[in-house]
Amino acid sequence: MLAKKLQTNQPIGIFDSGIGGLTVANAIAKALPKEQLIYFGDTAHLPYGDKSPDSIKYYCIRIAQFLLEQNCKVIVIACNTASALAYETVKDFVGGKVPVIDVVNPIVDEVVKDATLKHIGVIATKATIKSDIYAKKIKHAAKHVEVSSLATPLLASMIEEGFFNNKISRTIIHDYLSRAKLKKIDSLILACTHYPLIKKEVEEFYKGKIKIFDNAEAVAKTVAQVLAKHKLLAVKKGATHKFYISDYTKSFEETSRNFFKSKIKLTQAAIWK
Ligand code: DGL
Repeated sequence: MLAKKLQTNQPIGIFDSGIGGLTVANAIAKALPKEQLIYFGDTAHLPYGDKSPDSIKYYCIRIAQFLLEQNCKVIVIACNTASALAYETVKDFVGGKVPVIDVVNPIVDEVVKDATLKHIGVIATKATIKSDIYAKKIKHAAKHVEVSSLATPLLASMIEEGFFNNKISRTIIHDYLSRAKLKKIDSLILACTHYPLIKKEVEEFYKGKIKIFDNAEAVAKTVAQVLAKHKLLAVKKGATHKFYISDYTKSFEETSRNFFKSKIKLTQAAIWK
């Protein structure tokens, strides 16, 4: 039960440390084309993957407050690092006013349904790997499954800088994926919302030998289910999407196109002043 009556025409709030969450926003926009999205990328504090849990929680609460002020009917934490460290904190802060959706649970639910998987690899930021959230959740649901997690801290910054599908990105990806830890995996979770942009390169590395999962579509499906459950799915085409970042640079606006698949205008929201 939600604390307050919400309306179907209110927007969906989505946030990430930067523009990685646009891969999730893109999947939501595709699955639910009538919905208006309000996106917030905390580019002033990017990357979250190297920050302390207390800092990440502090940032997430303020962003959740911003999205509530924007009248959002649901908040999607489109960042693995923030989901791993601040999901409970955001839920407590929101206090049942709107549903809060993370990116970890939807993909874990999908992966553990596949009974053929025996050894799952996880690549993510340092903070997500340190939290051990994927191994804990997967093992809780499927005790027999082995989980090998590897921090891949260069990947998010590399992608933000537009380095993918080129020689440099291939070298870095190959170096990480060749590590002993990932030698025996039969599947791999790309546990960072930046990584869908390198999914093709990861697939090329494994040449179809293992299954590769990312958060985007699983999260979009969960958003649809949660909105349907609360009878909050938009019935008419909503207003134009809005994209906010906490620190504006022109280059972010250009890179954002790769993440959202169409031209978008980023507006600076000075929520830290
Ligand atoms: N997009 C964030 C995630 O899914 C990672 C980027 C960062 O370190 O801020 O974990």
